[in-house]
Amino acid sequence: MKLYNLKDHNEQVSFSQAVKQGLGKQQGLFFPLELPEFELTDIDEMLDMDFVSRSSKILSAFIGDEIAPHQLHERLKSAFTFPAPVTKVTDDISSLELFHGPTLAFKDFGGRFMAQMLSWASEADEKITILTATSGDTGAAVAHAFYGMDNVRVVILYPQGKISPLQEKLFCTLGGNIQTIAIDGDFDACQALVKQAFDDQLLKKAIGLNSANSINISRLLAQICYYFEAVAQLPQEKRNQLVISVPSGNFGDLTAGLLAKSLGLPVKRFIAATNTNDTVPRFLAEGEWRPNATVATLSNAMDVSQPNNWPRVEEIFRRKTWRLTDLGYGAVDDETTKTTLRELASLGYISEPHAAIAYRLLRDQLQEGEFGLFLGTAHPAKFKESVEAILGQTLSLPEALAERANLPLLSHQMAANFAELRAFLLHK
Ligand SMILES: Cc1ncc(COP(=O)(O)O)c(C=O)c1O
Repeated sequence: MKLYNLKDHNEQVSFSQAVKQGLGKQQGLFFPLELPEFELTDIDEMLDMDFVSRSSKILSAFIGDEIAPHQLHERLKSAFTFPAPVTKVTDDISSLELFHGPTLAFKDFGGRFMAQMLSWASEADEKITILTATSGDTGAAVAHAFYGMDNVRVVILYPQGKISPLQEKLFCTLGGNIQTIAIDGDFDACQALVKQAFDDQLLKKAIGLNSANSINISRLLAQICYYFEAVAQLPQEKRNQLVISVPSGNFGDLTAGLLAKSLGLPVKRFIAATNTNDTVPRFLAEGEWRPNATVATLSNAMDVSQPNNWPRVEEIFRRKTWRLTDLGYGAVDDETTKTTLRELASLGYISEPHAAIAYRLLRDQLQEGEFGLFLGTAHPAKFKESVEAILGQTLSLPEALAERANLPLLSHQMAANFAELRAFLLHK
């Protein structure tokens, strides 16, 4: 597989390089040189396969012979160990639930596959240190994805006292190859420390520093697979009338959906659903890219006004000669998010703010004869406080959270001081 840098098409790398490097020159995103397409008969056959075998076929089509098919299959088997069920909400709308993994969010698919690919792309005796800063959720996904891997050490920085106690329990109780550091400072201070570490060439070499970046191509490729898994669960008559609504922040999930469609998956239309951080809906309506200052909303993981992956979305439309005007869109404010969560609860479906936004636009825009799917990107218990306040009922904790809630925290404490962090990275 060859990929090019969207900021400089002359920079081309292999899949394994793209996985290890994350970003290209000038922070450019990598994008596949070839966009494979399956025949309709292949797609039908694939929809009958099990999740891992089908995913292996999809990813082989992109990655090619850089990784042997049986190796890819094994790696996917280790990454995709949990289901992505389609759950009925109304007669013509269902949810694709992507929160049944260890950290209860869709990030588990991409994070776990990226971990597998990073360990595959590194030499057998090469030690890697993954260093990352988290404001809550990414830390958990990264920690669980790399937990127990022989040649990988993970160091996660987070702002002390500024993440929820349950979020902290989820990744700071693992131990083993996962080290967590509570920094006396805010998230920006954590990110600044990570940046300093990446700028320190000696340190970088000494510990094999690597990032588990959210724009890594391996994450996107993994996410394509659950769109196929969704369609595989639908009866034939619904497959040809399918509209998928994607709750969007950085637009990675939508990019993956569009790549699934470009492979030949029958999706009639996508809806790009945002909260009031609506740079993309305004761009699609008015043709001008005018990001506003980011505002805090109930769907906080989508509080993004300069979405990283948007250049990839535009590139797919350009390469496929699709029209951006065919992309559905809309923005939902907090008040409507709350009413929608209550509406879903009255339908017997407890959801959370991100998915509720996607559902809302779907139910508003779905046309006669169409069938709608919205992505359930996180478990409602991850947003326990707000969901409970909005619905006036208590949510029980899923097992993954409940079983960690009473374990002791194993975090180190540190001032926001690079010399201290450097010493820790070299000697601990
Ligand atoms: C729960 C949840 N929903 C939706 C999104 C948006 O996904 P994307 O950034 O791929 O658009 C995120 C992103 O972090 C998320 O955590």
